[in-house]
Amino acid sequence: MIGYGYWGRNHVRILAGLPGLHVTVIENRPDALREAQQRYPMVAGASSLDEVAHVLDAVVIATPPHAHGPVGLQALRAGLHALVEKPLATSVRDAAALVDAANDTGLTLMVGHTFEYNAAVQKLKQTISSGELGRVLYIDTARLNLGRYQGDCNVIWDLAPHDISIASYLLGEFPRKVSVWAQRNVGRHHADVAYLRLDFGEGSAPAFIHVSWLDPNKVRRITVVGDRKMAVCNDLSDTERLRIYDVGVATPELCGSGAIDAANVAYRTGDITSRRVDFVEPLLVQDSHFIDCVRTGRRPDTPGESGLAVVRVLAATDEACRSGGTALVERTDEGEIATAEVAL
Ligand SMILES: NC(=O)c1ccc[n+]([C@@H]2O[C@H](COP(=O)([O-])OP(=O)(O)OC[C@H]3O[C@@H](n4cnc5c(N)ncnc54)[C@H](O)[C@@H]3O)[C@@H](O)[C@H]2O)c1
Repeated sequence: MIGYGYWGRNHVRILAGLPGLHVTVIENRPDALREAQQRYPMVAGASSLDEVAHVLDAVVIATPPHAHGPVGLQALRAGLHALVEKPLATSVRDAAALVDAANDTGLTLMVGHTFEYNAAVQKLKQTISSGELGRVLYIDTARLNLGRYQGDCNVIWDLAPHDISIASYLLGEFPRKVSVWAQRNVGRHHADVAYLRLDFGEGSAPAFIHVSWLDPNKVRRITVVGDRKMAVCNDLSDTERLRIYDVGVATPELCGSGAIDAANVAYRTGDITSRRVDFVEPLLVQDSHFIDCVRTGRRPDTPGESGLAVVRVLAATDEACRSGGTALVERTDEGEIATAEVAL
């Protein structure tokens, strides 16, 4: 386990409880390393990967994003399988280098797109695939809270990897075009609130993503609006994490001018039902899947290529921020850095 910070300690809690693993925490802050070893006396400790790479089989990397590329490459070159937290890297070049290194060596490279291991999100995908919602018209996501401000990337690179991966997972393809509205309110360099529009292939629904470090409410919500029913996934609810709304608008007659006659719009308001979703911690599912992939050679459900695809979208958001317009995802192969100044 590389990095015992806010998120790394959750991985350690999980890894320390999985059978058949010997866990080593690699952390370059001595106080954090000491804390890890006091809490988990059975784990080994080291201050750098160099010291212990020769006795390891695999690493989970939960350092700040800018270190994912170099540390991931170091691990793969040392012959270690790697699960890298999102975003896979902070540039397309670094992410592609990780994917190439894994492919060259045959090692497992997996990215921590945790929400694809979330039972409510998986059930939402099944609901869409079953046709129950009808044709998906659009997806809307909100990932808001007061904080946590990150030093080395903007709110898009910090939070939107989840929503980009969720929307891509639900629609079965990656975005081709992004538009961004972003604003910096605190500090000097990074946008802390952003709205993204993701456009997918021809005929596919768009996704609208709202991410914020500057909001009074903690919100983790995915809304899927279909032409038959609508669904809301609320990851913060204990008991109703996926609701299906049997509501909609009946196709209204068009007036002579081609406009809608608002007086004749008919609204259908049927039952709102809550789907049963058994709670299993998504991080446990994700990390167990990684260990399984390492042991069996199975390809991860979120392989390095998915991490690279999401980084391409993130790099396109930088381009869209700079231009104040829209960016094509495929044109951002040379995307360089995650913290572009936002065009205000
Ligand atoms: N999947 C999720 O839901 C989720 C949630 C939160 C954070 N994250 C991701 O987890 C990663 C870590 O985030 P965080 O909030 O825990 O950051 P953090 O700053 O709290 O912790 C990072 C830790 O890594 C250590 N570190 C940095 N470089 C190192 C190196 N080369 N070797 C050893 N230790 C090193 C730091 O000392 C620090 O303790 C980020 O990529 C973040 O995006 C994912």
